[in-house]
Amino acid sequence: MGTACDMGNMPQMDMSNMCQTGNGALPSSAGIPITSLQAPQTATHVDEFTLIAQYAHLSFMSKGQADAWTYNGTSPGPTLRAHQGDLVVVHLVNHLTVGVTIHWHGVAVPNSADGVAGVTQNAVKPGQTYTYRFLAQDPGTYWYHSHQESFEETGNGLYGMLVVEPARPVVHDDVDAALALHTWNNTLAFNMSTGTQSINARPGQWVRLRLVNTDNSPHLLTLKGAPFLVAALDGHELNGPTPLTALPVSIDAAQRYDLRFQMPQHGPVALFAANGNGQYQTPPRVLIGQENDFQSSISIPPMSQKVFDFTTYGHPAPDAIKPNSHFDVTYTISLGFTFGFSNMRPGPVFTLDGESFPHTPMLMVRPGELVRLRFVNDANAGDHPMHLHGHTFTVLAKNGHPLTGSPVHLDTISVGPHETYDVAFYADNPGLWMIHCHNLFHANHGMDMMLVYPNISTPYSIGYASGNFPD
Ligand code: C2O
Ligand code: CU
Repeated sequence: MGTACDMGNMPQMDMSNMCQTGNGALPSSAGIPITSLQAPQTATHVDEFTLIAQYAHLSFMSKGQADAWTYNGTSPGPTLRAHQGDLVVVHLVNHLTVGVTIHWHGVAVPNSADGVAGVTQNAVKPGQTYTYRFLAQDPGTYWYHSHQESFEETGNGLYGMLVVEPARPVVHDDVDAALALHTWNNTLAFNMSTGTQSINARPGQWVRLRLVNTDNSPHLLTLKGAPFLVAALDGHELNGPTPLTALPVSIDAAQRYDLRFQMPQHGPVALFAANGNGQYQTPPRVLIGQENDFQSSISIPPMSQKVFDFTTYGHPAPDAIKPNSHFDVTYTISLGFTFGFSNMRPGPVFTLDGESFPHTPMLMVRPGELVRLRFVNDANAGDHPMHLHGHTFTVLAKNGHPLTGSPVHLDTISVGPHETYDVAFYADNPGLWMIHCHNLFHANHGMDMMLVYPNISTPYSIGYASGNFPD
């Protein structure tokens, strides 16, 4: 496939502003306008929220302060809880002096609600508002963040969590807590705490911790005090999860892990995260228990050599997509690294098929196709948490070996050095969708591409003239 500049009659993305800078362009012509790809205007059940992008001075519980860019004055912004099946309506108001958007990470929204500046909307300018509308179809743990200058804006605090509560829960949770991990001035925080924070739970109760990593590189975490289950990945429940004892789980950028456990008869359960040297540290930590438990001292566990492996976890179950399904199209995407220029800046360049955005190839898919993607990390530039917008994929195989445990459905897959992952999804959500590394530094340095359905047109453009910079 060609670059954005010579796509001919392929997708109609107007990147003319990038072309003026020598980057690539497409004619914007007639087709299905992105603006028509919308959720219904109203529904019987509507969950309505307002998020105000605003500056805030954060003081963390324990230690540390930060000047942050926030939704509603905190970072993470409010955890939005919606009910499965409801129409979610979110009004974004921008009180910052920079443009912002909101991307609903992991949610199969209609394309016009995807929040990608220059692709599905213009960045919302200071003083302006924008309304997002989507149906909350799939229950689970999601998150939201700005997709204008997302490396800078998400890093500065423009993110929060979204929980879609199941209409018919499969399991009962007595306590349900959402925790975002974010590094502020080299200090890791769980939500607004860099110290010890406590969550109340009584003996025998079932607790679900919904964790998201809003940073750019993986975090290793574990729970001590009770065996735990990895109940869901990226919001999607696993089949037959089995109890784990103090096993570290590695959560890469943008991924969500739901951990569940039953409170023991005595003592607290503690959540620990590892530092940069791969050793558990404290603070920060989270203690789950009762008042008198929070005083008890709980020692830092040693790091185990073995790390949680989702490719062998839980029990097999029938899945709509199997390794031997018939795939209408397969794209191999090689994840690479070089030095050079991206967006006219010299420095590191992270590439997809040897190119950096917007020169990366576009992947064409047609409605109804079963699409297979093969991510091949053949560079030594660390792991790449590859994220697909608008769709959830089934993980088929790692390094050519099919999964042996539960089916796994993700929107972000961590591809380590010299690893290959095969994933597949139904092309069931027409639009122009990004695929990019969620190490947002990598995305900011070229590691983005577009997955496009035929004949979709957008009136928006990326570049200096429009001021839209999705990453
Ligand atoms: Cu979490 Cu393209 O985004
Ligand atoms: Cu990357």
